[in-house]
Amino acid sequence: MNHRDNSLRIIERKRDGHELSESQIRLIISDFVTGHLHDYQMSAFAMAVYFRGMSAEETAHLTSAMLESGQTLQWPQGTEVVSKHSTGGVGDKVSLILVPLLAACGLVVPKLSGRGLGVTGGTLDKLESIPGLRTDLSTTEIQDAVGSVGCCITGTTADIAPADQKLYALRDSSGTVPSIPLITSSILSKKLAENPSKLLLDVKFGTGAFMNTAEQAHALAASLVSTGERLGVETDCVITDMNQPLGRRVGNLVEVEEAIEALEGNGESRLMTIVQRLASDLLEMSHPQLSSANISTQITDAIQSGNALKKLNLMIEHQGGRLSDIKSAKQTLELKADRSGYVSTVSPNEIAWGVIELGGGRQNKTQSIDHSVGCEILKPVGTEIQDGDSWLRIFLSNETHRNERAIQHFQKALRTTDSPAEQSPVILEDLRSLATTENH
Ligand code: URA
Repeated sequence: MNHRDNSLRIIERKRDGHELSESQIRLIISDFVTGHLHDYQMSAFAMAVYFRGMSAEETAHLTSAMLESGQTLQWPQGTEVVSKHSTGGVGDKVSLILVPLLAACGLVVPKLSGRGLGVTGGTLDKLESIPGLRTDLSTTEIQDAVGSVGCCITGTTADIAPADQKLYALRDSSGTVPSIPLITSSILSKKLAENPSKLLLDVKFGTGAFMNTAEQAHALAASLVSTGERLGVETDCVITDMNQPLGRRVGNLVEVEEAIEALEGNGESRLMTIVQRLASDLLEMSHPQLSSANISTQITDAIQSGNALKKLNLMIEHQGGRLSDIKSAKQTLELKADRSGYVSTVSPNEIAWGVIELGGGRQNKTQSIDHSVGCEILKPVGTEIQDGDSWLRIFLSNETHRNERAIQHFQKALRTTDSPAEQSPVILEDLRSLATTENH
C-alpha cells in the first residue's frame, strides 16, 4: 500500500467511528502539511471528526502533531512562561490589561494573539490602532522583548503551527469549525507553541461568543484542560458570560484607551472582575506557596503604583508604538432611548455589527479596518433609563457624519423592561476553584 492509500484508509477509519492511533494521526497531519493529502481529503477528514468526535487521547495526539508541524518558542533555562487565551468576545480587551499587569507582578508573558474572528474583535487589530506598533515580531524579537520588558503581544508567525493555519482555512469553508476536538487542537497547537508552563483559558459563552450555551462552553473547557494537561502543561479554565459586551467600549482604538484607563484604576467592574480572576489564578498557579490575600495585594499594588501601566507603555514602545501619535475619532453621535425603563439587554452581536458597519471590523479577510471608530455604552444592562437619555456614544470616522446601517444595528441592540433586570454573573465557573473544592 502506498502512502496515499494509507491516509485514505485513516480517513475511512474515522468516518466509520474508529479510534485512531498516534501514528495514524501524525501521518494525516504530515501528509496534509507536505501537500500529499489534498484539501478535499482533509475536509473529509475534518467532517468525519465533526460527526464521530475524538477521544481525549486522539485529541491530544492531534494537538501535538499540529504543534510539531511548526516551531516552538525557546526560553532560557528556569524561565517560567505563562500564557492566557480567550475564545473571543465583543469588547474583550482583557489581554491588553492582563499581560502588562502580570509582567508587573513578575511573570513572563509572551502572548501570541489573533485578529478578529466572526463578530469578535482581535487583540492585534486593537493594538495596531497605535501608530508604529509592530505585531509581526520574529522569534528572536519575541525573546528579546520578553528579556527586556517581561511581555509582548504579537501575531502568530508562519512558523507557528502551520498545520492549523492550513486546516483552519479549510474548516472555515467546509462547515467544520464547531467541533470540540478540532477547536481544542487548533487553539492549543498555537498556545503551546509559546512553550508555557502554565496556561489559563477564558472560554466565553452567550450570544456574542462562538459557543452559545454554557453547556457547550463547559464541554470545550473540559477538553482544553484535559488536553493541555495530557501534553504536560498545567492548564486551567474560566467560563465567562458574553451575553453583553465586555467593558464600556467596543472598537479598536477606543478599547486600547479603555485598557489604559483600567490600568489607571478606572476599569469597568465586569471587565476588572475577569482581569483580577485571571491574574490571581495565574499568580496562584505560578506561586502556589502564596496566600490569596498576598496575591490580591500584589495585583492591587501593581495597578495602584502605576507599575502595570508603565509595563504597558514599555511594551508598546518596545514594539515601536507611539502613543503620542494616536488620532482619536473627532466626531461622535449619541443615540437616545425612546422609552423609560431598565436596560435588560445590550446585544453584543448588534453592537459588533454596528462597529463592523462603521469600518471597525472586517466583512472579508482582506478588508482594511478603520481603527478610530467604535462605540461606548453609556447605559449598561441593569441601569435605569429615561425616555430621551443618551445610551450609546458612537465614534465616527472623520469623513462620515452618519452611517444608517450601523445605526440600525446599534438601535436593535438595546432592549428595556419595566422592572430592573437581573444581572448575570460575569464568571460562571472557574474550573480551578471547582477542582480545588472537589479535592477537599
Ligand atoms: N479559535 C481558534 O484558534 N481555533 C478554532 O478552531 C476556533 C477558535
